[in-house]
Amino acid sequence: MLQTPTIQPQAYRDAMAQFAGAVHVVTTDGPAGRRGATVIAACSVSDEPPTVLVCLSRKSPGNDVFVDNGCFALNTLGAHHEELSTAFSGVSGLDQETRFGFGAWGALATGAPVLSDAIVVFDCQLVEPKDVATHRVLFGRVTGLRIGDSVTPLIYHRRGYRHL
Ligand SMILES: Cc1cc2nc3c(=O)[nH]c(=O)nc-3n(C[C@H](O)[C@H](O)[C@H](O)COP(=O)(O)O)c2cc1C
Repeated sequence: MLQTPTIQPQAYRDAMAQFAGAVHVVTTDGPAGRRGATVIAACSVSDEPPTVLVCLSRKSPGNDVFVDNGCFALNTLGAHHEELSTAFSGVSGLDQETRFGFGAWGALATGAPVLSDAIVVFDCQLVEPKDVATHRVLFGRVTGLRIGDSVTPLIYHRRGYRHL
């Protein structure tokens, strides 16, 4: 057991790598511009009113557009979306326009881009952004939903993609 007075960031990351998480692309569009990023730090908060949260790094200044637009869509990925997930994770240095070329996109209520073949889409109005440490937690009221075909979900576990 690792027990130290201060848990170092690397030790924390190593521990979190044991989590198996669903992979999503969170998107926004509006006056501040269009943007998407791959995330696993997203979950349900409440079903009444339906509310989700997403944690986005404050180290990417581009992430401010999620707050400026006041809306976002959480697109949950399937096993066939691994390439798209990599494109939106920033590792290949693609600009936003090129990233959106990796899928077919539409919109529901808010105008945030929704992926046509996502497992499920939560279209949200931003109700509250909250800065905590290195990240910004976006709380979103779900104003649109789309449940897609029942395909194998894409999972991220121990720093790699897995298929459930
Ligand atoms: C599997 C995976 C999960 C990720 N999860 C998050 C996350 O939950 N929150 C976050 O801010 N960034 C997360 N990232 C990193 C962002 O996708 C990345 O910082 C962003 O797309 C970079 O965009 P930029 O190059 O435009 O700054 C994740 C990356 C990968 C590969």
